[in-house]
Amino acid sequence: MRKAIFAGSFDPITNGHLDIIFRAAKLFDELQIGVLINPNKKGLFTLEERVELIEVCTKELNNIKVIEFQGLLVNYCKEHGIDTLVRGVRSEADVNYELQMAHMNKELNSDIETIFLPTNKQYSFVSSSLIKEVLNFGADVKNLVPEEVIWAIEKKTK
Ligand code: PNS
Repeated sequence: MRKAIFAGSFDPITNGHLDIIFRAAKLFDELQIGVLINPNKKGLFTLEERVELIEVCTKELNNIKVIEFQGLLVNYCKEHGIDTLVRGVRSEADVNYELQMAHMNKELNSDIETIFLPTNKQYSFVSSSLIKEVLNFGADVKNLVPEEVIWAIEKKTK
């Protein structure tokens, strides 16, 4: 059974993330979505909210498992029989950063491969941090994040 993981903070999940998730899910028997536990960082959404939003947005996929992890990602993979890290790349800048991470993860555990999927062009500028920045100024992000995220933001700001 080929298992892969797509990890991140997902605060919040964007249409760019979803594009990668739906495409990567076709390539593996099981795709785990690993949500990073970072107790030092107060995000827009709590860990539980982020997990729930990802679950709702991926409910039509039957080989997805949303998990929380902390510590080194390669250690989580080793403990759970996962041998592939999936990363989305939007730009040349992403490639440089992602290559560094891939090399570091390879150094930490040479059995684990990283594969890069190019993000769909239409989401090449979308990141959770930019979404949060423009949201602070009341911008409309409905084309950039799933509608469940819009509803969750509206609930928070009411
Ligand atoms: O949402 P992001 O910033 O793209 O996610 C980055 C993430 C969570 C995949 C990366 O920071 C990570 O794997 N963190 C866990 C700790 C770890 O393994 N660090 C070494 C990375 S080379």
